[in-house]
Amino acid sequence: MFYSDDLVEEVRMKNDIVDVISSYVRLQRKGSSYFGLCPFHNEKSPSFSVSPEKQMYYCFGCGAGGNVFTFLMEYEHYSFPEALKFLAERAGVTLPEKEMDEESKRRQTLKSRILELNKEAAKYFYYQLRRESGAIAMNYLKNRALSDETIHRFGLGYSNKYSDDLYRYLKGKGVSDELLVQSGLMNVDEKRGMYDKFWNRVIFPIMDVNGRVIGFGGRVMGDGKPKYLNSPETAVFDKSRSLYGLNFARTARKKNLLVCEGYMDVISMHQAGFTNAVASLGTALTTQHAALLGRYTDEVILTYDSDEAGVRAALRAIPLLREAGVAAKVLSMQPYKDPDEFIKALGAEEFQKRIDSAQNSFLFETDILQRSYDMNDPQSKTAFYEKVAEKLTGFEQELERENYLEAVASRYQVSRDSLRKMVNRMALRGIGTGSLRTASTKPARPEKESGIIKSQKLMLTWLIEYPGLYAQAKEYLVPEDFTGEPYYTVAGLLFAQYEAGEKSPARIINHFEEPEEQSKVAALFHASLAFPGEAEREKAFKETLQRIAGHGLEESRKRLEPTDMAGLQRLLARQKKLREISGQKFQFDDDGNSHRREYS
Ligand code: CTP
Ligand code: MN
Repeated sequence: MFYSDDLVEEVRMKNDIVDVISSYVRLQRKGSSYFGLCPFHNEKSPSFSVSPEKQMYYCFGCGAGGNVFTFLMEYEHYSFPEALKFLAERAGVTLPEKEMDEESKRRQTLKSRILELNKEAAKYFYYQLRRESGAIAMNYLKNRALSDETIHRFGLGYSNKYSDDLYRYLKGKGVSDELLVQSGLMNVDEKRGMYDKFWNRVIFPIMDVNGRVIGFGGRVMGDGKPKYLNSPETAVFDKSRSLYGLNFARTARKKNLLVCEGYMDVISMHQAGFTNAVASLGTALTTQHAALLGRYTDEVILTYDSDEAGVRAALRAIPLLREAGVAAKVLSMQPYKDPDEFIKALGAEEFQKRIDSAQNSFLFETDILQRSYDMNDPQSKTAFYEKVAEKLTGFEQELERENYLEAVASRYQVSRDSLRKMVNRMALRGIGTGSLRTASTKPARPEKESGIIKSQKLMLTWLIEYPGLYAQAKEYLVPEDFTGEPYYTVAGLLFAQYEAGEKSPARIINHFEEPEEQSKVAALFHASLAFPGEAEREKAFKETLQRIAGHGLEESRKRLEPTDMAGLQRLLARQKKLREISGQKFQFDDDGNSHRREYS
């Protein structure tokens, strides 16, 4: 869907950044800005600033910054269209709808009806748990050491012992049988007709990342079978894409996510302070799960049960995560079965220790592999090393491969050299998954910021801080002189705004899609330039101007067609002008922030 610049700008202007961020971060006014604790890194004293004039935020601690869209993209992990939608709704701006065909319209309606119904059912279960007849369920939860706060936070409930209770309640609200079946809340069979799927169970509502109830799990209060019943797949519930607890975990601000098997594990971990725990709810982790996790983190700690099934689940999950660019570690719960039992027995502090010492997934895999070899038998031992060498060829980067090789060699007592030879031989014969790229073919690291880019950045900061300089600077500079992105684009936009007699930093940011670029641009608007005196400042400014314009001229000379006489004339004229710069006097308009009024 394409949204016009004007629409994007309208939505931005109707959402004051201070209002929006205030609902996430406690802000305090300090001069013309607001300050608070940065939600993007850990800090004790506030270096996160929000400027109502610039309609931007910037953290002086970690460099995060941008406009109101950037904030939501970073904080909520929204895509740009999602952030736009959210803010449009918030401000009551109607976005144009894509023309939907009949089928998708129907599906959309069904989805919102089921969500509505699920919410209704969740409220009903929640209420049942708190009635006198729900005492049995409440006791069950209390016996499992859940606090009132936890029970409330996860919206836990109870489906009472009558199997037509919810049915009658929802019928009373005029819900059609058809919708009830489609919601998965009811079963139908010939003998009994329609009846509640869940009865006499503790209820765990399953929420999506936005906190909407997409399904339910119900646990027997004791040893009955099946232990858990779950909503079937519906228009809104797809097990293979849902992670229980993600609605809380995504804002936990920890450097990784803990992935476990079940409802109770997630809840126990959250209660113990590990609010970054999610569960794939008894199903094996899927590619979709891995991709979803990858949206929120680049490291996952697998906290699966310590039985064989848990080990198998981890072995299956590791390559999927790797494929999605998520590194995995494996946490050992021994001698306990799962996080819930571990925390109950040893407490949060011990659990944190296990997190800190979680095992690298590659070594976890090789450890498990070793179990099926007899290390006392030379033949079998060699076969094990061969398997490990084959796995090592999977690391494409030399340094990484070497580090793993070293770790493996010392772990399984084999000489590094023999193992390396084995790996290289296999790579040559094309065994294994990797191509063994050498260091020279490795993709180049991003270049360090060059001097000229630094100058360009500095110049933009100057022009932003002192709009009065622009009239003079434009005699020497053209936006094309800013050769690095995003500075080239910013220069173009800033020059155009000044020509039109306005200045709107937040509007400039709209032009950048990547939060990383947005932060870079935001930094330009928040730099403060300190010079010992006015003379030093002017000298620095002139030198910077000369450097950028000189570099820009050099670049355009290289591009100049030999037949382009007009181009050559312009070039020579600019060059001449540049030589006169030393005799010029530049006017810094720092007379009491007069330019601030120009922000819109
Ligand atoms: N599960 C399920 N159906 C079952 C058993 C398990 O859907 N019959 C799913 C549930 O999501 C459950 C998860 O698999 O949370 C893990 O199963 P298990 O380890 O047996 O349950 P726990 O989460 O440990 O639950 P509890 O502590 O209540 O026994
Ligand atoms: Mn358990």
